[in-house]
Amino acid sequence: MALVAAAREVAPGPFPARPAEAPFLGVGVGLRPVHYGEVLARAADGRLRIDWVEAVSENYMIPGGRPLRILSEVREAMPLALHGVSMNIGSVDPLDTAYLDGLADTARRFEPAWLSDHLCWTGVGGHNLHDLMPLPYTEEAIEHVAARIRRVQDRLGRRIALENVSSYMSFADDAMTEWEFLSAIAEHADCGILLDVNNVFVSAHNHGFDPMAYLDAIDATRIFQIHLAGHRSNGTLLIDTHDQPVCDEVWALYSALVSRTGPISTLIEWDGQIPEFDRLETEADTARELLTTATRREDARAGRAASAHLAAGHGA
Ligand SMILES: [Fe+2]
Repeated sequence: MALVAAAREVAPGPFPARPAEAPFLGVGVGLRPVHYGEVLARAADGRLRIDWVEAVSENYMIPGGRPLRILSEVREAMPLALHGVSMNIGSVDPLDTAYLDGLADTARRFEPAWLSDHLCWTGVGGHNLHDLMPLPYTEEAIEHVAARIRRVQDRLGRRIALENVSSYMSFADDAMTEWEFLSAIAEHADCGILLDVNNVFVSAHNHGFDPMAYLDAIDATRIFQIHLAGHRSNGTLLIDTHDQPVCDEVWALYSALVSRTGPISTLIEWDGQIPEFDRLETEADTARELLTTATRREDARAGRAASAHLAAGHGA
């Protein structure tokens, strides 16, 4: 937890207030089964260079077995957040109450700092698309999705955070920007935001908007957590593959964001061609260095100007 203390020391503020249920945890990584042994071994002998982990909710919504035992051990060693992919919050299908009750049970068992899922739809008519599909940015969609989030939060007994997804298409009916849509949803539902900076960068390239305009528009007091990840280009579009290091432009956007918001719990996602754990920790080290520097008030203005320049040069 050294980072927590360090970042607070060098960030005199005033920064926007943190959401009460989302304190600053430091820098973490997504917990993947291939790293179970390494995480526990490093935690046991004090070699771990991360502060917390995020686990995929659905992998632990099971009756028993090794994954539950492992996650219990990890949870004893460090803070944990649960991140789901199956809430299907944007669909017109009825909310899956069995899923929500299972999620609530899992949360009671592991006491995560917070729960999150994606601002998207993943299926309709009972069919699961196994993908995170974007929503139309309309008033009707805001009303529909915000009402569903409120019902989810009532059932779970806590606020949740929803993540901006990357996208490769848009709707002819869109009546506002993605950041206006995300902000309106968060306000209407009174929920948190999991802000994925790589997703902002990918979508900015694919749709031709300014990623800094997006980041600047998000209410810092609603951001529970930040995601950072890598992507690939298929020649035309950027694809959110999570199988690469974080690119320089995303690091620059991240620095600019936290120079405005102050320290926010940050997580490295790596899901394809997963490297050795040490490589993940190196990504976390970079995030920690940038976060510490960017949240020093005397460095923030210069860093933000340089970051905005770099992001604009390589962004949309
Ligand atoms: Fe993400």
